[in-house]
Amino acid sequence: MRSQDVTLPPGNHALFLVLGLNRPDDIEPVKGVCGELPAIVRSLRGRFPNDEVSCVFGFGSSAWDHLFPKRKKPRELVTFVEIKGEKHTAPSTPGDLFFHVRSTRADLAYEVAAQVSSILGDSVFSIDEVTGFRYLDGRAIIGFVDGTENPDHAEDRERFAVIGANEPDFAGGSYAFVQKYLHDWKAWQSTETPEQERAVGRRKYDDRELPEELKPESAHNVVTNIKGDTGEELKIVRANMPFALTSKGEYGTYFIGYSSTFETTKRMLENMFVGDPPGNSDRLLDFSTAHTGTLFFIPSVELLEELAE
Ligand code: HEM
Repeated sequence: MRSQDVTLPPGNHALFLVLGLNRPDDIEPVKGVCGELPAIVRSLRGRFPNDEVSCVFGFGSSAWDHLFPKRKKPRELVTFVEIKGEKHTAPSTPGDLFFHVRSTRADLAYEVAAQVSSILGDSVFSIDEVTGFRYLDGRAIIGFVDGTENPDHAEDRERFAVIGANEPDFAGGSYAFVQKYLHDWKAWQSTETPEQERAVGRRKYDDRELPEELKPESAHNVVTNIKGDTGEELKIVRANMPFALTSKGEYGTYFIGYSSTFETTKRMLENMFVGDPPGNSDRLLDFSTAHTGTLFFIPSVELLEELAE
C-alpha cells in the first residue's frame, strides 16, 4: 500500500484546511475529491516539476461515521478528547475534512486549494484555514529551528508516520493530529535568550541541544522525548509551519504530527499538558496556547481510490 505524502518535509509554503460537512451524509462531493485530487496534484507536478506540489487529504471521526457507515473504521479514529492539565489545556475542536497542501510556491498551494474548493462547493463550510510559511532556516516563529529531531531516514519516517502491521486493514494510512497555537508574543520577546533556550532545550543560534545538566525537566524536548517498552525512542513526523498576522499581533505555530499510531502523539501531548509527573508541564506552553486540536485519518492512496468508487 502506498501512503499519501505524509513523510515529506514541511516545505516552503503550506495551507492547512479544516472543513465541516454541511450535509454529512452526502458522499458525492467527497467522492469527487477522492477521485480527482490525485490528478490535480499530478497535473501541477507535471507542469511545475521543481515546485514540490503535494496534498494530503483525510477525515475526522464523525465524518467517517456519516460518509462510510458500512465500512470498517480505523481503530484509533475517534474525536480527540481534550487533555487538561493543572495549567494548560489541549482543546478538542471539530473537523470533518482535512487538507494539508505543500509547495515551494504559494500560488501552487493556492491552486490546489482552489480546485478542491470548486469540487466541494457548498457541501462544506470553513472551520479553519491557515497559511504557513518557511521562516528563515526552517525556524518556528519563536525563532528556534523546528524539526531537527524528526526521524531522518526515509525508512524511519515511514515506520513512524505510516500504518503497517499494527493495523493491516488500514496499512498505508496515517493519523494526523493538528493544533493551532498562538504565542504570547510580548512575554516571549521579553524573555532573555538563555531562558528561551531552557524552554525549548536547544540553543537558539546554532540549534545545538543543551547539555543534559542544563536542560530542565520541563524543557519542550525533554517532555516530548518518549520511549517505548524496549527503551527505543518513539517518534512522529512533524511538519509544523509558522504563521503570522503582524498587524494583529498574532504569531503562531501550526502543529501537525503524522503517526502510525495516535498513541505516540497522545503520550507526547499528555507529557506536555499534564506532565509526567503531573505538574511538570511543558515550559513552552507558558508562552503558547493551543486554540484547536483535531485528529484525522489519512487513507492510503489505494483506499482513496476505493472511496471514490
Ligand atoms: C507551540 C507549538 C510547538 C512549537 C513552537 C514546537 C517547536 C519545537 C522545537 C523548536 C523543537 C526543537 C527542534 C526539533 O527537534 O524539532 C521541537 C521538538 C520536538 N517537538 Fe515540538 N513544538 C510545538 C509543539 C509540539 C507538539 C504539540 C508536539 C507533540 C505532540 C511536539 C513534539 C516534538 C518532538 C517529538 C520534538 C523532538 C524532541 C526530541 O528532541 O526528542 N511539539 N519542537
